[in-house]
Amino acid sequence: MKITVRDAAVLAIVASHARAALSVDFGSTDSIKAAAKTVAANLMGYYKGDQPGETPGILPGPPPHGAYYWWEGGALWGTIIDYWHYTGDTTYNDETQRSLVFQANSPANNFMPPNWTASLGNDDQGFWGMSAMLAAESNFQNPPEDQPQWLALAQAVFNTQASRWDTKYCAGGLRWQIPLSNNGYNYKNSIANAVFFNIAARLARYTGNSSYADWATKTWDWTVAMGYIDADYNIFDGAHTDFNCTDINRAQFSYTAAAFIQGAGFMYSFTNGAQFWADHLQYLTNRTLEVFFPRGIMKEVACELENLNQCTADMLSYKGYVHRWLASTTLLAPFMHDTIMPVLLSSAKGMAQSCRDDSGTCGFRWDRGGYDGVTGAGQQMNALGALTSLLVQGDKKAPVTNNTGGTSIGDPSAGAGTDVVTEGEEKKISTTDKIVSWVVTGIIAFLCGLWTIFMITDVLEGPRRTWQGPMDDGHGRRNRNGFRLE
Ligand SMILES: *[C@@H]1O[C@H](CO)[C@@H](O)[C@H](O)[C@H]1NC(C)=O
Ligand SMILES: *[C@@H]1O[C@H](CO)[C@@H](O)[C@H](O)[C@H]1NC(C)=O
Ligand SMILES: *[C@@H]1O[C@H](CO)[C@@H](O)[C@H](O)[C@H]1NC(C)=O
Ligand SMILES: *[C@@H]1O[C@H](CO)[C@@H](O)[C@H](O)[C@H]1NC(C)=O
Ligand SMILES: *[C@@H]1O[C@H](CO)[C@@H](O)[C@H](O)[C@H]1NC(C)=O
Repeated sequence: MKITVRDAAVLAIVASHARAALSVDFGSTDSIKAAAKTVAANLMGYYKGDQPGETPGILPGPPPHGAYYWWEGGALWGTIIDYWHYTGDTTYNDETQRSLVFQANSPANNFMPPNWTASLGNDDQGFWGMSAMLAAESNFQNPPEDQPQWLALAQAVFNTQASRWDTKYCAGGLRWQIPLSNNGYNYKNSIANAVFFNIAARLARYTGNSSYADWATKTWDWTVAMGYIDADYNIFDGAHTDFNCTDINRAQFSYTAAAFIQGAGFMYSFTNGAQFWADHLQYLTNRTLEVFFPRGIMKEVACELENLNQCTADMLSYKGYVHRWLASTTLLAPFMHDTIMPVLLSSAKGMAQSCRDDSGTCGFRWDRGGYDGVTGAGQQMNALGALTSLLVQGDKKAPVTNNTGGTSIGDPSAGAGTDVVTEGEEKKISTTDKIVSWVVTGIIAFLCGLWTIFMITDVLEGPRRTWQGPMDDGHGRRNRNGFRLE
């Protein structure tokens, strides 16, 4: 094969792209911190909420006004709190405090601002709640007394969600969406329940109040009983109330597993090492590492396909949560350290290869040995989470409790009576719900029939996919067609 001048130029560019990466000496805490600082600055470039006329706390959105839904702002501040906690860099602390307080929805202070009702899922509210909880556990700067406090905010999220525990269908569980008019109200998904479990477990440990632990255990048991967590510790996306939650969509998303793992870590710590949680923690973590870290590098397997990236803006951000929550688990359940940390390290090395250069712009795919050009706030949170997660330092950085130096002020009844679904609305459901349910059932049956015909006529080629159609994850009221087509 003859190599022309042009080919040579192209090869040189490819080679230089392959070489360029974020330079990090993974043996040096200072080097990791320096890289994190660059990536954090790049991440905060996506945030406009501190500019005149913009809304504090949120990333540009929601679509069509920008790529990001409201919940991802909540996720951003959790990422930044960890960044501060592990590096000591306070640059973004004031904006973080202002943002969490601004979106808390004063005076209800329940993270349910009316602006975002159209995309308000229990998981969305819960992401803000987890960031408030993290602030309490990290002894992050407390807001002035006349403003909502971190612990009370997490309790408000817990209380409003506990009051939504719904036994009418599927013998329990949280629905995905909060307002009954939202698409997805009839879907009970694993992420909404994972986040509730996570917050309950953390409140138990922080406050020492075992009522929270009872709720965590109940939520875990329900998720297992419904088959959302199977015997091999796969965690599936969810199912519909129309089918009493038997039509399980078997797509697996990494952050759901990580939210359960971290919650189980808190339960392990709260119970002083109960065998029940030690066992679940090991099996679930091992399975999660197997599914989402092929060859030791994280991959969002449901949408990050070999030759096609189907991940939505939501899904592009999960890697960072997984790294951070697994790292945090090693502080709560130190016996998991040697299972988790080597994998987080090899994965972070893959991440560094995915960055364009030392400007700290990182791509999405971490297993290609180069930069894929797919950028966004989620990818930056991923990169930052991968770096800060390597800075866990045993007890020194372990989450505090009310008895071990935590200073956040709580309110056990926070959020009570502030929910959007009123009694009157609840009563209205029954008649309309029935009709909607019949229609939906009919449509789904029709589509399932079509699917069977496709299968029989072998129209589909290529690898079998468990999830057909626009990708969704529990955050896409948008393309939601979350029924199982398998
Ligand atoms: C709600 O939207 C209005 C109008 O855009 C804005 O002024 C306000 O700051 C928003 N509030 C929150 C909590 O986002
Ligand atoms: C719905 O599922 C729950 C839990 O599996 C079960 O206890 C209940 O009997 C089911 N209800 C109906 C109507 O099938
Ligand atoms: C936390 O500790 C303080 C001081 O010991 C105590 O006054 C407060 O009631 C405790 N709060 C909780 C939620 O247990
Ligand atoms: C413990 O938590 C439960 C659930 O939120 C609450 O009802 C109860 O008042 C709490 N108990 C104390 C002593 O704070
Ligand atoms: C989980 O993986 C670790 C490390 O690979 C191994 O030592 C441990 O035995 C595994 N635990 C279970 C329950 O499979």
